[in-house]
Amino acid sequence: MCGIFAYTGKGKKDAGKVLLDGLLSLEYRGYDSAGIFTPESGAVKTPGAVKELRKKVSKDFSGKSGIAHLRWATHGEPTAKNAHPHSDCGGELWLVHNGIIENFKELKEKLAKLGHTFRSDSDTEVLAHLVEEYLGKTRDFEKAALKALNDVRGTYGIALQYKGEPDKLIAARMGSPIVIGLGNGEHFIASDPSPILPHTKKVVFLEDGEVAVLTPQKHVIRKLDSSQVRRNATEIEWSAEQAQKGGYEHFMLKEIMEGPEVIENTLRGRLLPSKGDVKLGGLESVAKKLAKIERIIIVACGTAYYAGLVGEYMLEEHAGIPVEVELGSEFRYRHPVLNERTAVLAISQSGETLDTLEAVREGKRRGALTLGIVNTVGSTIARETDAGVYNHAGPEIGVASTKAFVSQLTALALLTIFLGRQRGMSPKEGKRIARELAALPKKLQAILDRHGDIEKLAKQYGFARDFLYLGRRYNLPVAFEGALKLKEISYVHAEGCGAGEMKHGPIAMIDERFPTVALAPMDSMYEKMISNIHEIKARRGPVIVVATEGDKEVGKLVEDVLYVPKTIEMLEPILNVVPLQLFAYYFARAKGLNVDRPRNLAKSVTVE
Ligand code: M6R
Repeated sequence: MCGIFAYTGKGKKDAGKVLLDGLLSLEYRGYDSAGIFTPESGAVKTPGAVKELRKKVSKDFSGKSGIAHLRWATHGEPTAKNAHPHSDCGGELWLVHNGIIENFKELKEKLAKLGHTFRSDSDTEVLAHLVEEYLGKTRDFEKAALKALNDVRGTYGIALQYKGEPDKLIAARMGSPIVIGLGNGEHFIASDPSPILPHTKKVVFLEDGEVAVLTPQKHVIRKLDSSQVRRNATEIEWSAEQAQKGGYEHFMLKEIMEGPEVIENTLRGRLLPSKGDVKLGGLESVAKKLAKIERIIIVACGTAYYAGLVGEYMLEEHAGIPVEVELGSEFRYRHPVLNERTAVLAISQSGETLDTLEAVREGKRRGALTLGIVNTVGSTIARETDAGVYNHAGPEIGVASTKAFVSQLTALALLTIFLGRQRGMSPKEGKRIARELAALPKKLQAILDRHGDIEKLAKQYGFARDFLYLGRRYNLPVAFEGALKLKEISYVHAEGCGAGEMKHGPIAMIDERFPTVALAPMDSMYEKMISNIHEIKARRGPVIVVATEGDKEVGKLVEDVLYVPKTIEMLEPILNVVPLQLFAYYFARAKGLNVDRPRNLAKSVTVE
């Protein structure tokens, strides 16, 4: 989820300034390294985001055209060496890229044999050398770019520049967004319209498999087979400020809405549906050790801890491994008994949460194998664990974690298949889970499409000062997470509780002003949940139920039902949490609160 921005205007504006200003509005897309290139001033690259890049760029850095990038690392550590733009051997061709070149290893080997020298660990650099190779043969920049793109597998949004034709930019899209800005005597390329909007509201969105050639005066769009495409420009209605959030009012809402894409990204290249298995490259080095592991201890904080609780159910039921889940902040103080047959699995979006990191270190000290499910590439937890699975959820900016939770659960389901198949899970069972995982993005989209109903409901409950969230089995951690979401952004008290526990205390709170959110999908716990809902109704407590589409009975019992599509029980949390995230969002919005910056909270907690 990197951000790219490029400009050509034959001196109409200073490319250096245009690009540096534009990168600021793309910062949400990646901030672990940044870089800029103009043919006049060359390339400047640095770890960190735009602030660091500004410090490194000299005062006289300028140009008539150029390309720039903010990186959210996937291949290679976030260092200056791996930052974009990347170039060919001779420093003639420069490239910024968002996506993953899946066949980069094989291309790199081929190109190395042909004499190309690589300077980074990045998959992107390969593409610059590939264009160089074809440029040597064709002597035609556009043809060389097209040929190279035809050799590439994977996802990309790119902007490419050649010193030999400095006014010309080439953009291409396959899976990663690219917008072309149409100015007067100038053109722009960006990952989203936000950096373009201060200059023009006229844009063209590239489709997958399209390549655009831009000069200050002209833009031509072709398909990969070189046939020309005609596309009308779109007039963007957003203000420049709104567009920083991709048109959403808040990062939180944008990130909830990204759910289907996030699941796809976490699954990409990992599911082997025909074998009922998964390929987790990050675990290959420890696969043999994992086959002998007798116990897993999941360590995490906050939302990631609740993801871990769901993981406990998944791994015990389907992979047959004993699992415990520990708060990062408690683990190292209780003198845990571990050995080399124990795996300590850290779950963390940021990869920097101190308590989780210290739990990993404690696990290491006591001889356990350490693993991570981490979203931020190159983060401390990712580096310090022995092996792991990256979420590939893209940068999460909203302080309330939403899409990271969805991707953590997806990664845990992949891990369940991986460890399960090592321990006798049948191919049939593996296939069943894989099939259901692959179907999740569409089902999640169906929930998001009904966000208007959830907004109405949230407004209707604006009177409440307390909420009880109830669930059982897989949906108990979802109840905890739903309550956390509500309290952290609306400052209204909310408590998650096992529905079976309710009668041991919490039910005393129920009256007509104390609503309950009950997770009651049609699964093995359905009848018990329905009984618990009856108990609350009998005490005049208002109830909102998250139920399975097609459940006619629940609608007779309560007025407010949020329906979600059916899936298998172990995957229910991935869908069920989303209406609760939306409910919390709209509830806090109705109170006029800034949901992206909740009081007293920070995105990454690096103190105890
Ligand atoms: O970056 P991490 O996943 O390690 O962060 C853990 C918690 O700090 C985080 O999930 C926190 O609870 C969120 N604000 C919840 O929305």
